[in-house]
Amino acid sequence: MSRTFHLDQQDAVEWLRTIGSGTVDLAITDPPYESLEKHRARGTTTRLKNSKASSNDWFSVFPNQRFGQLFAELYRVLAKDAHLYLFCDQETMFAVKALGELAGFKFWKPLVWRKDSIGMGYHYRSLYEFVLFFEKGKRRLNDLGIADVLDAPRVRSGYPAEKPVSLLEIFVRQSSEPGEVVMDPFMGSGTTGLAALGQDRHFWGTDVCSEAVDITQQRMLQAGGVPQALAPASDAPTTAGGQLSIGLY
Ligand SMILES: C[S@@+](CC[C@H](N)C(=O)[O-])C[C@H]1O[C@@H](n2cnc3c(N)ncnc32)[C@H](O)[C@@H]1O
Repeated sequence: MSRTFHLDQQDAVEWLRTIGSGTVDLAITDPPYESLEKHRARGTTTRLKNSKASSNDWFSVFPNQRFGQLFAELYRVLAKDAHLYLFCDQETMFAVKALGELAGFKFWKPLVWRKDSIGMGYHYRSLYEFVLFFEKGKRRLNDLGIADVLDAPRVRSGYPAEKPVSLLEIFVRQSSEPGEVVMDPFMGSGTTGLAALGQDRHFWGTDVCSEAVDITQQRMLQAGGVPQALAPASDAPTTAGGQLSIGLY
């Protein structure tokens, strides 16, 4: 089976508005939360490596007030019965759970990613992260025997806040079938894409940062992914290839 991918460098919500309704089977994503600013003030978190491609040493954050639009678009592009996994910090989850429900998602529970070692910080050093598990319609998990605490090692010296492929593979296996489309609108280094391609799914992703797109593109090609243009979506709020879209594949 050919494993295809499509990448863009664009704002997540603007990009989702170019995607056809009901065309995505699974969304897994990891936005940079507003609450990061609190930790950044103490100088402890998520610095992008200096690079020619990036004009900013930090991620630009995605403000909490934009989550309403984000959920509305994710809900629209997902198939009738589909799952959404949202990496989320302990603070932001209180705000975004309600916004997800308002968009129509059923919130099931926070899953816990248990890491192999503690992180940096001054306020009880973190050994875990949450992943909020949402459902549109009704889709059965493929393996009902998987626990809600998932062990996976941290990624060391990778892209800032890079997630382990082994963790993302669990979500891909649980909530999609080979040949289906997996999406990540804050793809970073493309870990969701790697997990999707490795399980014979197709991947669509975007990121505002050109360095992220370059890294993802390299990883996808190394994994044997085949670049593919997306067909223009007639029912999308904005047509693909519009002013804000820089389609790479
Ligand atoms: C936490 S990182 C994702 C890391 C990813 N899960 C990985 O394993 O590499 C968040 C990403 O969101 C991107 N980002 C920030 N604001 C964005 C926006 N408005 N739309 C799309 N991407 C955005 C950042 O450039 C960053 O690469």
